[in-house]
Amino acid sequence: MPENFADAPFRTIIEPFRIHSVEPLRMTSAAERRKHLRDASYNLFQLRAEHVLIDLLTDSGTGAMSRDQWAAIQRGDESYAGSPSWFVFVDAVRELFPYEHVIPVHQGRAAERILFSALGGPGKVVPSNTHFDTTRANVEATGARAVDLVIAEGHDPVSEHPFKGNVDLDALEALLAEHAGDVPCVMVTITNNSGGGQPVSLENLRGVRKICDAYGKPLFLDACRFAENAWFIREREAGQGDRDVADIVREIASLADGMTMSAKKDPMGNIGGWLAMNDHELAQTCRTQLILTEGFPTYGGLAGRDLEALAQGLKEVVQHDYLRYRIRSTAYLGDALHERGIPVLRPIGGHAVYLDARRLAPHLEPLQYPGQSVAVALYEVGGIRSCEIGSVMFGRQPDGSEAPAAMELVRLAIPRRTYTQSHMDYVIEVCERVATEAASLPGYRITSEPPALRHFTADFAPIA
Ligand code: F0G
Repeated sequence: MPENFADAPFRTIIEPFRIHSVEPLRMTSAAERRKHLRDASYNLFQLRAEHVLIDLLTDSGTGAMSRDQWAAIQRGDESYAGSPSWFVFVDAVRELFPYEHVIPVHQGRAAERILFSALGGPGKVVPSNTHFDTTRANVEATGARAVDLVIAEGHDPVSEHPFKGNVDLDALEALLAEHAGDVPCVMVTITNNSGGGQPVSLENLRGVRKICDAYGKPLFLDACRFAENAWFIREREAGQGDRDVADIVREIASLADGMTMSAKKDPMGNIGGWLAMNDHELAQTCRTQLILTEGFPTYGGLAGRDLEALAQGLKEVVQHDYLRYRIRSTAYLGDALHERGIPVLRPIGGHAVYLDARRLAPHLEPLQYPGQSVAVALYEVGGIRSCEIGSVMFGRQPDGSEAPAAMELVRLAIPRRTYTQSHMDYVIEVCERVATEAASLPGYRITSEPPALRHFTADFAPIA
């Protein structure tokens, strides 16, 4: 055998775990699925999960916890104040994000609400690469304006730019030059979920930092998928290929003044989050809000056992074997669809594959909701639940009018460590079958909707 023969990498990316406890999946017939769709008014959020075969609605809180996380749950200490589980949690957070103040919350949007109740308000302007829907809603709920400043490639579904989540630095500079007095902070979402799970480069974050410094503005990260973003930096950014991901994460943290976090994503939790910052006064204001609605500052909205599970999850998510599998397995699905001529947003993101419904169903107008139509078809044909990220989610304007979103996407979000390669092979087959009939998919209209965040509860009807 030649000397390096046994070191050569293999093509097959195996899941770097074996299965320890299983949950049954239930098959349904096409007739049953059509009935479930009618009962849900064609809104996939209204389906019963037990009627879904492969649930790609979200990667949020839906991952499989590890043996060591379940063991950590047994160590959970439920003391109201000063629990040992709190200290385990805060040490694990600070190992990666060494901010002065860590404020635990029950999930990411609670961190957003608390932060913007302190920083937002009428007349304020909060720029980001792309605000996630709850972030935007929490900014707007205070009367402030949420502005998206992602680079132009970030709106182009076919551009192969390696960091399509980057902030347009010229646009940020111009916004600050005009409105500096109204901007309480700058946000950057890593990875950029609403823009296709696309990463932000270290170089871009350094550029944002420089502009923030010039105008004296704090920079906050929306860091839900920080480990996936750091892995992309390691793989794609010059000079980063030999670094430990945890080191890259610490450098990212050092470029910002604080963060909001949904621990239901990369930290491998089923629930949880935090808000962190260096500013002492701001932290005090936020803790007061926390006590009003979330809980005491050493548990936020969480049980001690949740804090323990998250601390362990934070150690697991920065392991290179895990991240290599995570990013390669998402690309496995996306590349297979791309090779079969099914339009997907390129390059493939970290946590999800995004079908480009505008190209898949070009006969539908944006306000006939092509993404919703494709998402409904994926469920009808194969029992797969996905999520429209297009004019249903973003079309409603603060003044009540309606305008098409920048892109009409259908997100196939991959829960962490949950589905195997054969599940993904099935998803590929279902997408292929829907694509062959795409020209006959109906448009949809909204028959009732709430004033905000309508995608969760709106009712739809197919257009005859
Ligand atoms: N920021 C980003 C980038 C997110 O993706 C999410 C949630 C949040 C904030 C809010 O966190 O759900 O814990 O309150 N995203 C989920 C998703 C819901 O499906 O993408 P949360």
